[in-house]
Amino acid sequence: MADKKNSPAQVKDTGHVWDGIRELDNPCPRWWLNSLYLSGLIVVVYFVLYPSLPLITGSTKGLLGWTQIKEFKKDLAEVEARRKPFEDRLAMMTAEEILADQEMLNYSIGSSKVLYGDNCAACHGTGGAPAESAGYPNLTDDDWLFGGNINDIMMSIANGRQGSMMAHESLLEPEEVDQLVSFVINSSKGVATEAEKALFTAKGCFGCHGDDAKGIEAMGSADLTDRIWRFSGAEEEIRHTILHGVNDANDSQTRIAVMPQWNEKLAIMIEARQYAIEDGEDPNDIDWDDELEGDESERLTETDIKKLAVYVHQFGGGQ
Ligand code: HEC
Ligand code: HEC
Repeated sequence: MADKKNSPAQVKDTGHVWDGIRELDNPCPRWWLNSLYLSGLIVVVYFVLYPSLPLITGSTKGLLGWTQIKEFKKDLAEVEARRKPFEDRLAMMTAEEILADQEMLNYSIGSSKVLYGDNCAACHGTGGAPAESAGYPNLTDDDWLFGGNINDIMMSIANGRQGSMMAHESLLEPEEVDQLVSFVINSSKGVATEAEKALFTAKGCFGCHGDDAKGIEAMGSADLTDRIWRFSGAEEEIRHTILHGVNDANDSQTRIAVMPQWNEKLAIMIEARQYAIEDGEDPNDIDWDDELEGDESERLTETDIKKLAVYVHQFGGGQ
């Protein structure tokens, strides 16, 4: 290499000399110049093809017509095209069939995460476990107020839920309240006394919580014999529930427990099908014009609710 280079004596100089050092006038290397011209060319091509020059109300459009939003819409359309065959199949399946089909089950669970996050997590927590003090039921334990089979869960989501217990402040003597609080605490440990149990029965608690105090799913009444608390196992909190009830419109201190309704139409349809089957009729013969007004709310689609039911079912507590 060195011998190819011209010796300093043969190179022109710029005429500048400092302390006896001459500034030479070597040409720039060819590779360097070529890259410079090439990058200039790329800028011009890019400039012509893509949106570039800012104007007062936007920018030049470019010959390709490319925009970020178009690219986003194209990607979205691709995702939807990939999901469509699954969504179409889901629409035709019952929730029970989805549970039995590994591929559809995986798809449902995968595509429910965002749906759950957007609509449910605010109350039930990410993953179905809310903060204990939040006052919302945990969906991951095997303790269900309204039933944990897939159809019960569908109904909970479609129709919403609102368990009610009247306030007992005016119905009980203070000693009776004490005894019932003690009954509830002792029941959860399996050591309730006969006297406490007798009071539970005499005061009508059994009518909603069941003879065995294990709760009745049709009413969403809590199981009082386990250690899973709907509200709290603390003595004062239990007293509060007994005194003020749950969703009792006449008591300003009542506990509020409202699961919103997500698809009124679907709820009516599930119920009508259930009645038809119980009456030995064919659910396909139901005249929906009779059953539906046509103005029922549908905040989530039937397919979304099926997916969510399957998702919640596999949190760990599904039956
Ligand atoms: C505004 C708060 C809130 C939102 C949002 C909410 N829930 Fe609920 N959910 C509740 C409450 C409160 C209950 C219990 C009702 C009761 O105690 O009577 C409940 C009950 C349930 C139950 C029945 C649990 C059982 O033990 O039987 C299921 C299942 C459920 N929710 C699923 C969902 C799903 C899925 C979503 C999202 C589409 C959702 N919830 C959105 C508040 C909410
Ligand atoms: C009209 C029906 C009804 C009657 C009567 C009733 N309960 Fe309840 N109770 C419920 C329902 C429903 C819930 C659960 C509310 C919810 O989560 O939506 C509940 C919840 C409770 C809880 C909260 C349990 C927890 O896990 O946090 C306690 C404690 C309780 N009831 C005790 C009693 C006692 C004691 C009596 C008798 C004095 C009684 N209840 C009478 C319907 C009733």
